[in-house]
Amino acid sequence: MKLAYDEFGIGEPVLLLHGFPLSGKMWAETAEAVSSEGYRVILPDLRGFGESRCGNEIFPIEEMANDVSQLLDFLKIEKSIIGGLSMGGYVTFNLFRIFPEKFRALILCDTNYTSEPKENLPARQSLVDQIEKHGAQALVDQMLPKAVSEYSKINNPKLISALTDEFLACDASSAAAAIRGITLRKDHTATLSKIDVPTILIFGQEDKITDVEGAEKMYNRIQGAKLSVIPNAGHLSNLENPKVFNSTVLEFIRSLN
Ligand code: MLT
Repeated sequence: MKLAYDEFGIGEPVLLLHGFPLSGKMWAETAEAVSSEGYRVILPDLRGFGESRCGNEIFPIEEMANDVSQLLDFLKIEKSIIGGLSMGGYVTFNLFRIFPEKFRALILCDTNYTSEPKENLPARQSLVDQIEKHGAQALVDQMLPKAVSEYSKINNPKLISALTDEFLACDASSAAAAIRGITLRKDHTATLSKIDVPTILIFGQEDKITDVEGAEKMYNRIQGAKLSVIPNAGHLSNLENPKVFNSTVLEFIRSLN
């Protein structure tokens, strides 16, 4: 499937994959910071999100990775710095497993390498049921409070309001299809030891969905990886503390040269 995407700047490519239930727009501030330093930043909308509308019952993560690979081919990009947050990270792991040669470096944010723990399945099913009954409002009620830190809730009402609008803009059937895909994602423990490109893990200190404990496990299994924990941020670390997040990304990509 052909993905919609946005592009900023000229230079070495940096592809960033968004989390659920957002779109490439979630990276706007990071894209501005990175492209102004001489990089070409590409922000796809993964299938079902943003402008990449798609009507399937399930969005397997492997197919999302194939969509991204096709976009890179279409843009004639052979190698890129590739990053993803949460669901975007699941897609990034799949992309690395199938096409490691497309990676110059890896940026894994607030994500996890395991398959879905069995104990999470009832909550996932209940969220799908709620989305089918109440539409995207169910995402605002059930997911948003977990996705951001207490710090953001108290100090950043503007962000909470913008995220509420973004969550509500998500197509409900796509949200359900993506959750089904997320629930069936593969385990990537074996992929971690095969990662042979510079890698940084960036996690919000208060991430309650993909926690720092999981990040430390990845850190211990990926050779030479760096780990940065972002203060005053939860699961959406790039949006909750953009200043520290963006300077962390820039420092990493500058160190590649
Ligand atoms: C995301 O931010 O993409 C989601 O939290 C992923 C998930 O729920 O597993």
